[in-house]
Order: sequence, then structure tokens, then C-alpha cells
Amino acid sequence: MPKKIRLGIIGGGGDSLIGVLHRVASFINDNYEIVGAVFNPDYEHNIAFAKEIDVPTNRIYKDFDTLIEEELKLPEDERIQVCSVLTPNFLHFPMAKKLLDNGFHVICEKPMTMDYEEAKILQEAHRNSGKVFALTHTYTGYPMVRQMREMIKNGELGKIHKVDARYYQGWINTVIHDKEKRSSVWRLDPTKAGISSCMGDIGVHAFNMVEFTTGLQVKSLLCDFNYLYEDNQMDVDGTVLIRMGEHVKGVIRGSQVATGEENGLAIAIYGEKGALRWEQEKPNFLYKMSDTEPVQIYKPGHAYNSELSLGASKMPPGHPEGIFDSMANIYLGAAKAIRGEQYNDGEFPTMEDGVRGMNFIEGTVASHKQGNVWVEMD
Ligand SMILES: NC(=O)c1ccc[n+]([C@@H]2O[C@H](COP(=O)([O-])OP(=O)(O)OC[C@H]3O[C@@H](n4cnc5c(N)ncnc54)[C@H](O)[C@@H]3O)[C@@H](O)[C@H]2O)c1
Repeated sequence: MPKKIRLGIIGGGGDSLIGVLHRVASFINDNYEIVGAVFNPDYEHNIAFAKEIDVPTNRIYKDFDTLIEEELKLPEDERIQVCSVLTPNFLHFPMAKKLLDNGFHVICEKPMTMDYEEAKILQEAHRNSGKVFALTHTYTGYPMVRQMREMIKNGELGKIHKVDARYYQGWINTVIHDKEKRSSVWRLDPTKAGISSCMGDIGVHAFNMVEFTTGLQVKSLLCDFNYLYEDNQMDVDGTVLIRMGEHVKGVIRGSQVATGEENGLAIAIYGEKGALRWEQEKPNFLYKMSDTEPVQIYKPGHAYNSELSLGASKMPPGHPEGIFDSMANIYLGAAKAIRGEQYNDGEFPTMEDGVRGMNFIEGTVASHKQGNVWVEMD
């Protein structure tokens, strides 16, 4: 067994939503050890949380800059090798850039940056660094999503002509209708979340899934947002028409006010010979449909799946794997890259996915603001 990769965590404290997912995911395949962190901007909370989860407190730092400064003083074989950036969005760019500039690998939450311009600057910093950068578009880690990608790549659907991705949540419905509440959520604050709430937070996952599974790129889009209230500057719902080719069209639908919906990410890809449909809330079932045969259901772990899919399953068929396993697969891919081992394309989302995502988010905002017009993506 090779030595564990020394992992640092920024954000993701006990008060966070996503921290536990990353900690458990990093642990699942025995590749990482958390050796340092700034879990929280408040030092007391930071230390208390480290004690709670049994991370040694000698490398729990008061802030991000101190973490970099102190870690650089350590010999290379003790120093943090990779940092996971799990803070609210506005901190992703400055933190990821400083990490790359100082020779650390980076695992970063989405949306990668606040805007497209920052994304391109980060891409340049990444190129110059020679370090690994993994973006945690969590859902690409599911075995059946990876299977979908490989089946489409192998031509099983024939020519693709229709794409439908939707990501529906309802939780903002519980805050948006109260003036005070809606001004207290960072996801609705443009200085912390960026230019978009719904498309930036969840629409971008759906966009990434569309490009990940089809291997095609969105070329142009037209977006219609709903903000619900005059004093709310951030979209909480949006429908985006997309064109991926002259005869490849579709829709990305996102909502944070789809009352009663939980984490309703679903994607369907339709081609001349067949179609594939997958839903995040039932991740172990991939439906293959055709006009001439009964529906087939693909499940994880069976030998009929592709190498990319099988590499994402740890248990024999029939043992359901979920969101923790999916994120763990992204950490696994990143670990291979950090160790300089062989890995397959698609084992973790990359800087290029992050740049595309920011291009998409900015495009949706531009399209809506210009009066729901078609906008070209780069
Ligand atoms: N990949 C996914 O499926 C997924 C799901 C949820 C959230 N996210 C992303 O993860 C990020 C965090 O989201 P969340 O819901 O966990 O947010 P959150 O508000 O629940 O938690 C943010 C954490 O960052 C900490 N933090 C804030 N400022 C900090 C600083 N300067 N230094 C160190 N720590 C700091 C907070 O104390 C808190 O622990 C966001 O960018 C979000 O878009 C991704």
C-alpha cells in the first residue's frame, strides 16, 4: 500500500453541508489522511471541530494564508500535498490560485470561480503549476453515469438528437418568501455566490452532466430566469434551451423553488437507435430505451459494464452505492493523478470542466439579461 496522500481541508467545518461528504469520500478508498485544515474562519470553532473528529490540532491554522505560510516551512515529505477547497464560492478562486502557485494540488468545489474571467486566470495558473486540479462535480462519480458516458461513446444510441437534463430542488422556497430570510442566505448574496444562484449552484451540475455523458459541447444557449422578487438579485429558477450541433438540441432545467423536490437531478439522452435515462435519487438504475425492444435496466458492478463504470464500484452487484461512493470515486481518480499513476479520462472532472461551467453560467445570465436571446459559448 503506498503512503497516504497528505490532505488539507479549507472550509467544510462542522457547520457546513458539504464537509462530511468530502471527509468520508477521502477516507473510503484508503488514499488520504487529513493532516491540516482551516475548517472554519473562527479559530475556536476550528480547533473544537478538529478535536471532535480527531484531527491533530498542531496543524489547524487560524486562516488560509497562515496554512500556506506554515506548510511551506515543513519538509516536502511532511507538507500537505493536496487541499480541498470547500468554502462558499467567492473564496474558491483566490484560494485555489494561491494553492497552485505555491505547489499544492487542488480539489475544489463547484462553481469553480465567481466568473468566467477568473476561470481563465485559474486555468493559466494551473497550466503553469503542473499540479493536479480536480473539480467536484459529484455526480460524475456514479457508476451508472460513467456507464452512460461509455455507452454513448461506443455509439449505442446512434446519433444523438435530444438532451434533457433537469436539477430540481425546493429548499429556497422555504426562505425566498420572507424578506429577512432571503437576505441572510449566502447562496442569494452575489458577493458570496457569484452572478447566479440556481444555475451557479445546481444548473452547472446538469450542464456538466450533459457534456460528460454525451462527449459533446454546448455551442449556444437561450435562458429564461425567475427571480421571484424585485429585491432578489439572484435567479432561483431557470430554463435553458441548448444547441450542441445543428440537429442536437435540448434543455437544461434548474430550480430551487420546485416545491417538495429534494435533489432531483435527472438526465435523459435520446439518439436515433436508443435512449438512456438516469436519476440521481435512484442512482443504481440506468434505463436503456428503444422503440422496438423492452426497456433494459443496467445496474452497477456487473461485468457487462464498462471499465470506467466498474472502476467506480467497490461491492458486488446488489449492494447500493450512493453519494458518498460517488464523491469517493472522484477522490480516487484524483489520488491516481497525484501519485502519477495511470487513470482514465473521466475519472475526475478537470479544470477544463470548470472553465466550461463558468462559460455556461455567464452565458445564461447574459442571455436572460439581454432579453432571452441566443448566446454563443466559446
Ligand atoms: N458538489 C456538490 O454536489 C456540492 C453540494 C453542496 C455544496 N457544494 C459547494 O460546496 C461549497 C460549500 O457549500 P456548503 O453548502 O458546504 O456551504 P456552507 O455554508 O454549509 O459551509 C461553508 C463552510 O466554509 C467555512 N468557511 C467560510 N469561510 C471560510 C474561510 N475564510 N476559511 C475557512 N473556512 C471558511 C464555513 O465555516 C463553513 O464550514 C460551495 O461552493 C457549494 O457550491 C457542492
